[in-house]
Amino acid sequence: MENETILVCKNIVKRFGPVNALNGVDFEVRRGEIRGLIGENGSGKSTLTSIMAGMQKATSGTMEYKGKPWNPSTMEQAQEQGVCMILQESNTVRGCTVAENIFAGQISKFSKFGVVNMKKMTEEAQKLLDSFGVGRIRAADLIDRYTFEDRKMIEIVRSVSADTEILVVDETTTALSFDARELFYKLMKRLAEQNKAVIFISHDMNEILEQCTHLTVLRDGDIIGHLTGEEMRQPGAPEKIRYMMVGREIGDAYYRSDYDTSHEEEVALEFQDVSVGEIKHFNLKLHKGEIVGFGGLSGCGMRLIGRAGFGLEKLTSGSVLRNGKKIKDPLTAIRSGIGYVSKDRDTEALILSASIADNITFPSLDALSKFTFIDPRKEKKLVKREVDRYLIKCNTPRQLVSTLSGGNKQKVSFAKWTAKGSSVIIMDCPTRGVDIGVKQAMYAFIAQMKKEGKAILLISEELSELIGMADKIIILKDFAVSGEFMRSPDLQETDIIGSMI
Ligand SMILES: Nc1ncnc2c1ncn2[C@@H]1O[C@H](COP(=O)(O)OP(=O)(O)OP(=O)(O)O)[C@@H](O)[C@H]1O
Ligand SMILES: [Mg+2]
Repeated sequence: MENETILVCKNIVKRFGPVNALNGVDFEVRRGEIRGLIGENGSGKSTLTSIMAGMQKATSGTMEYKGKPWNPSTMEQAQEQGVCMILQESNTVRGCTVAENIFAGQISKFSKFGVVNMKKMTEEAQKLLDSFGVGRIRAADLIDRYTFEDRKMIEIVRSVSADTEILVVDETTTALSFDARELFYKLMKRLAEQNKAVIFISHDMNEILEQCTHLTVLRDGDIIGHLTGEEMRQPGAPEKIRYMMVGREIGDAYYRSDYDTSHEEEVALEFQDVSVGEIKHFNLKLHKGEIVGFGGLSGCGMRLIGRAGFGLEKLTSGSVLRNGKKIKDPLTAIRSGIGYVSKDRDTEALILSASIADNITFPSLDALSKFTFIDPRKEKKLVKREVDRYLIKCNTPRQLVSTLSGGNKQKVSFAKWTAKGSSVIIMDCPTRGVDIGVKQAMYAFIAQMKKEGKAILLISEELSELIGMADKIIILKDFAVSGEFMRSPDLQETDIIGSMI
């Protein structure tokens, strides 16, 4: 049984108008493997896997699954047959309960004579959630009340509720926090041990090298090569893989190289005795020219701090102050020069049905319009600068954001605030899903913003990112500050983890 091929793609072509997303890809998945799929933003990873999982059709080419022609027309159909995909973007249905989301497509399991036994379905769903250690998510609740991260966990639970033969995981781990991620790796290993297969898409080289048994590299819609587990463990493998991805040498020094933690005296944003949700009496002075990082496990509260800073949460005591004025809501925040890169890019950060240009200029309208009409030349120049800076892969800036690959959407959500030149930027996982080349550009830009006297609040799941970029790192545990670390060449992840758990 082992190493038996389970799914084969032959000469898969996918075109979107003039864009060739896939140029005739041959790809095989075997039982017992966790196959990594890596490649720059827009290289075709989501397109290829979503064709296998029934989300969209190839322009041409054929597939075989368990020795038979494979041509699913919907995701539900593919899932029924055992091909299940966790999407890069959120894929839960609002207005439904958690249980309904978990068993979507399998409701018939719980119905008799057309009547659904909701109680049984909810109980089963709760059992599954409990078994994943996320019993705090209640199956009977409406899904709308849960955060992006929790909704991802619910999708993961859904993916195993079915009899999955092939699990496709598209960039899910960047949405999960440290502890949830460990849980998820175990799940992937278990599937592989049960002689099923996992296709794992990620931009995190270490994660790919640690978790995958095989690797395939894509570039611009072509497969560049495959690596076996042994080849992945050879010295120099990361450099080789990076070279395969981008076709040129890329160093791995992409964080800040300086250890200068000085900043200006002036306070840019102040949290004064702030209580929000379960966080009580939190104080922080963020200065001009300072980068303060926040880290911790899932649900530790770090995300709440960012949201409160942008006026998205109601405070139960204290205030968030900028230039002596209270930040009451996002509008006052934007007007006073605060920007916010949200982790939940599809519902909070971007207007998917608008163009790249409109998304980038939206918060800068003040700066572009003399009297109230917009100067089209200025707008064009500004948009071009941002598209070039972050290598946003598109045909034209007039293209709708909904047609961009995940990482390219993230670049737009970042550019939206940097274009405005906000003086304070709150970033919640700003590099989520962007490839190494662009990460490098974003980090260089964050370092430059510090030099220009901007104030930055960086919330991140990646300890290496916090160590690499922040002047000061604040760790939260159970909604309270549990550790503070200053930037230093000696600071290691192991020094910090202790205060997280
Ligand atoms: N609906 C669409 N309309 C037009 N172009 C599209 C559409 N969907 C995808 N594309 C294009 O196809 C190409 C491949 O996109 P895909 O989403 O597969 O990339 P990816 O490798 O998953 O990238 P990322 O790492 O950013 O998620 C991109 O150039 C993208 O803009
Ligand atoms: Mg993708």
